Amino acid sequence: MKEDTKLLLDWYDAERRILPWREDPTPYHVWVSEIMLQQTRVEAVKDYYARFLATLPDVASLAEADEDTYLKLWEGLGYYSRVRNMHKAAVTIMEDYGGEIPGTAKELQKLSGIGEYTAAAIASIAFGQPVSSVDGNLLRVYARRNLYRENIKEPAAKKLAYDYYMERMPEERPGDYNQALMDLGATVCLPNGEPECFRCPWADLCEAHSQGMELEVPVVPAKKARRVEHRNVYRVHCGDALLLSKRPDTGLLAGLYEFPNDLLENTADKAKKNPPEKLTKKQIAELSRKALDRFLSDNDLTPVSVFPLPAAKHIFSHVEWHMTGYDIEVASFDALPSNVEPDPANDDRTLFVSPLAELDRYSIPNAFDAFKF
Ligand code: ADE
Repeated sequence: MKEDTKLLLDWYDAERRILPWREDPTPYHVWVSEIMLQQTRVEAVKDYYARFLATLPDVASLAEADEDTYLKLWEGLGYYSRVRNMHKAAVTIMEDYGGEIPGTAKELQKLSGIGEYTAAAIASIAFGQPVSSVDGNLLRVYARRNLYRENIKEPAAKKLAYDYYMERMPEERPGDYNQALMDLGATVCLPNGEPECFRCPWADLCEAHSQGMELEVPVVPAKKARRVEHRNVYRVHCGDALLLSKRPDTGLLAGLYEFPNDLLENTADKAKKNPPEKLTKKQIAELSRKALDRFLSDNDLTPVSVFPLPAAKHIFSHVEWHMTGYDIEVASFDALPSNVEPDPANDDRTLFVSPLAELDRYSIPNAFDAFKF
């Protein structure tokens, strides 16, 4: 074993994070944890992980689960296509792999939602295969250690980092090697601001550290600004019932449930001249009132009372919602043109009425938290 690999593994043995999915790293456990950990912090994942496994303990139960069950278990984690893809992959594993999760990175990558990184993580941690799982953490560690000054988002950087780590991969402990690097990146070689080099097993080997250049690398291109959308959100209720709709099966928050809402568009002053982020408060308020009136009339809703709710903002990866909320009490839902049960096959956002007591059945994403009762 190379000396620097030994330094890293010794550090990992002493300092590794105690995480639930490391206790019993079966292929299913590792798969679930790796998918949850994409785009989500370790601390946030822990409870979801326990709850998910309590309901869906193995591939077979996931393959048989219905959409509302697995979406509900994912509620609040975001990026819901992750769990849809997992379900799809579970069905494939049952049908084409006799219920056994395949044990090589190459086979794993054929499954829905498993890319290069996740395949390598599962293959190494659960099956002991020597493949490096290069994610943002490993790229940052690589860039600092070698004072790599090019853009780390380019494929060339990933290839260099992969080769570098593969040369040092210990045959006996590939999963621990990858996880040691993940822990190093997450707890010592920190992404924003000063890394904690005084705790790093590689401090004496690190080129960025020896030259005092820790903050100069990695080089990352400037992020594109997120699109802004102004929306009205309607909390429409009558007695102990609330109006909901189901989102379309594709796109943002696909298939989840929501408080009815409208995009506020400045159609009079077409987008480029006055993009959403440039709208004034007054313009937004006007658009909002108009959209509210249209929503009420389109759906034959006669309010008993309407009052504004505090504004709320939700940030997705590529878009920000800036929301104006209304609490609307109606005398009845009888005139609603589409007062129906949620129809799983219906893809056009039909409104339906849910008793408040049954609201728990529906996955309503965090974006609407500010408007929940
Ligand atoms: N991030 C992604 N996978 C991880 C793992 N197995 N341990 C810690 N952090 C991770």
